Amino acid sequence: MKNLILLLLLLAVVGGACQKEKDDVKTAIAVVIPDNFPPPIYELSANPVTPEGFALGKKLFYDPILSRDSSISCADCHISYAAFSHPDHSTSHGIDNQFGKRNAQAVQNMIWNTTFFWDGGVPNLDLVPLNPIQNPLEMDENPAIALQKLRRSSFYPSMFYNAFGTEEITTARFLQAMSQFMATLVSANSRYDHFVRKESGGMMSTEELAGLELFKQKCQSCHATDLFTDNSFRNNGINSDFSFDKGRNEVSTLPEDIGKFRVPSLRNIEATAPYMHNGKFSTLESVLDHYASGVKQSATLDPLLIQPDGNLGIPMTADEKIKIIAFLNTLTDEDFLRDTRFAE
Ligand code: HEC
Ligand code: HEC
Repeated sequence: MKNLILLLLLLAVVGGACQKEKDDVKTAIAVVIPDNFPPPIYELSANPVTPEGFALGKKLFYDPILSRDSSISCADCHISYAAFSHPDHSTSHGIDNQFGKRNAQAVQNMIWNTTFFWDGGVPNLDLVPLNPIQNPLEMDENPAIALQKLRRSSFYPSMFYNAFGTEEITTARFLQAMSQFMATLVSANSRYDHFVRKESGGMMSTEELAGLELFKQKCQSCHATDLFTDNSFRNNGINSDFSFDKGRNEVSTLPEDIGKFRVPSLRNIEATAPYMHNGKFSTLESVLDHYASGVKQSATLDPLLIQPDGNLGIPMTADEKIKIIAFLNTLTDEDFLRDTRFAE
C-alpha cells in the first residue's frame, strides 16, 4: 500500500506535464503482469518502478560510460529489436574486440527468472549488472570506478536525485535503477498471447495450431508454461564433451551438472538468433534438425531425449518441423520489439 501511495505521488509530480506526455510517462512505468503468466519472482515492492527510476536505468543501460574505455554499453550486446539479444553474434563481442564463450541472452520478462545467465550463476536481477561490468571480455571496469565516473558527470547526480531523492550515487541505487528499467521489459503481446487470452488479433492458422499441439507433445516438458521455460538446467545434447563450457557445473561444481544449461524462453525466438548457449545454430530449422537427428550422447544427457528404443533425440517428420516452426513464429511480439519507450 505504501508503494502504491508513493507511485501515485510520483505520478502527481509528473502531473504538470501535458496530457500526452503524462500518458507516455504512465505507460512507461507500468509493469503489467499478463493474465497468462505465473506470479513474478522479482520483488517489485522492494524496488517499485518509478518514471524517474526507469529513465535513469534506461540511460545507464545505453551508456558506454560503464565500460573501462567508455566504448561499450549494455545495449551493444542487448539490442531492443532483437528482444535485447545480439543478432549475428554467436558469442558475446566485448571490449577491445574480444569474444566471450557464450551467446548474449535475450533480456525480456526478467522479473520471472528464478536465476540469471546460462548457468544460473546469478540469483537476483539486482546483481546482474556487476557481472558484465567486471567481466574482462565484456566491459572490464571496476564498478567503484564506474560509479566515480557517474558522480563526476554533469547530469547523473540530478537523475539520481530525481529517482531516489538524493544525489548520492551508491551501488545499491545504481543497481535498483538498472533493475527498474529491466523489470519493465515485459513481452506478452505476441499473436499466441492474444490467442490464449482470447483477445482480438489472436487468430491462429490450422498449421500454427497443429504446431502448437506438436509443441505440447515434444517440447513443453522443458519449455513449460507461457514463459516457455521451466527454469531448470538440462543437457539437450548440443555437445558430447563440455570441457570448454561446463554450464551449471561451473556454479554448482556437481559432476551431474556438467553440460547442463538453463532452459531458455522461446518468446520472440524468431528475433533472437543465433541459438543455444554457444550460438551454434543460426536458424530454427537447424535447431529442429538438432533435436530430430543431431542430439549427442553424454553422461548427463536429459532422459527426455533418450527414446525407449535407445535412439537419441525427438522424432519429427519434415512436415512436423515446419508446423512447429510456424507455431514458434507466433511467439513474436512486434509491440515489444518495436517499443520506442525501450529503444535508444
Ligand atoms: C559484451 C556483451 C555484453 C555486454 C556489454 C552486456 N551483456 Fe548481458 N549478457 C551477455 C552474455 C554473453 C550473457 C550470458 C552470460 C552467461 O551466461 O554467462 C548475458 C546475460 C545477461 C542477462 C541475463 C539474462 C537471463 O535470462 O539470464 C542480463 C539480465 C543481462 N545480460 C543484462 C546486461 C546488462 C544490464 C548489461 C550492462 C551493465 C549487460 N548485460 C552487458 C553479453 C553482454
Ligand atoms: C529436455 C529438455 C528440452 C526439450 C524436450 C526441448 N528443449 Fe529446447 N532447449 C533446452 C535447453 C536446455 C536449451 C539450451 C541448451 C544450450 O544452450 O546448451 C534449449 C534451447 C532451445 C532453443 C534455443 C533458444 C535460444 O534462445 O537460444 C530452441 C529454439 C529450442 N530449444 C526449441 C525447442 C523445441 C522446438 C523443442 C521441441 C521439438 C525443444 N526445444 C525441446 C531443453 C529442451
